[in-house]
Amino acid sequence: MIVLLSGGSGLVGTALSAQLQAQGHEVRWLSRSPGKNDLDIQEYAWNVESGKIDEAAFADLEAIINLAGAPISDRWTPQHKSAILRSRVDGTRLLFNTVQKLKTPLKAFISASAVGYYPNSFEQEFTEEDPPGSDFLSLVCQKWEQEAENFQELNIRTAILRVGIVLSEKGGALPKMAMPVKLGLGAPLASGKQWMPWVHLQDLAAMFVHALENEKIKGVYNAVGPYNATNAELTSAIAKVLKRPLLLPKVPAFALKLLLGEMAETVLASNKASSAKIQKSGFRHEFQDLSQALTAIYHN
Ligand SMILES: NC(=O)c1ccc[n+]([C@@H]2O[C@H](COP(=O)([O-])OP(=O)(O)OC[C@H]3O[C@@H](n4cnc5c(N)ncnc54)[C@H](OP(=O)(O)O)[C@@H]3O)[C@@H](O)[C@H]2O)c1
Repeated sequence: MIVLLSGGSGLVGTALSAQLQAQGHEVRWLSRSPGKNDLDIQEYAWNVESGKIDEAAFADLEAIINLAGAPISDRWTPQHKSAILRSRVDGTRLLFNTVQKLKTPLKAFISASAVGYYPNSFEQEFTEEDPPGSDFLSLVCQKWEQEAENFQELNIRTAILRVGIVLSEKGGALPKMAMPVKLGLGAPLASGKQWMPWVHLQDLAAMFVHALENEKIKGVYNAVGPYNATNAELTSAIAKVLKRPLLLPKVPAFALKLLLGEMAETVLASNKASSAKIQKSGFRHEFQDLSQALTAIYHN
């Protein structure tokens, strides 16, 4: 298939592009700053703020995978919070308006969302039917998903993957968690009991390929590993794989709030998410076990 990835240059998009190419798909990227890349992928320009998009990206196009969005790990100033929301909502709407205008006969529209959709709970394991939370990231996910769902009006198969915490040495949460551990300053955050629904980057990329290639995949799926870990379990698994001791006491929640402001939401969130639905659809994880996943990341 000819597949256009918005935000294809990012952590998930790069790994996914390599898997798509290995499966024989032709990959294109939509980027704010198109240029050359190591994967020999044609890049096309768009600008979500001005609503401009290179329509050449849509010629003979068969599917879109929507990953673009301003990073949630940058400081949450009012301007950046607006960018987190607008880049996802307006970006998805720009794709919709373009597909509608050009009458692009897409076979599939697959969008990322995040497990941050769910409310916080230390006890509950969330399935795709559970109602959303009310914090900032949950509202972003709800609005992002609503925009993605509009593609169904065009009779285009639409799937949304609620992505968990992606484990990779190349970016995302893991290098940030591993750095203090490497320096001997690692410690669980707050109670350490908050659930972190991790997923290995290669498994996540394979889930997007599965959603693209499998016509039965429609609607929302949690894109997480089969066994979620708590913050304390993840921190200690990182320390074990890196062969470093965890000596310091837990970092109190109030210190995290002082340090990070409202953005502390990202490390205090507890969203245990079930992978049962995507497994039932035929997906098999390569990385089921946390220490197996971390060993593959750090020792291969
Ligand atoms: N990594 C995780 O743990 C995780 C967890 C849950 C959900 N997700 C979601 O999954 C998606 C992909 O994640 P990722 O880790 O690959 O993200 P990433 O590495 O930050 O890449 C996202 C891409 O989006 C584009 N982008 C950045 N700011 C933008 C803006 N203001 N407007 C439009 N495009 C912008 C960039 O591409 P260009 O510079 O080429 O334009 C960037 O490469 C993201 O939407 C993320 O929120 C990720």
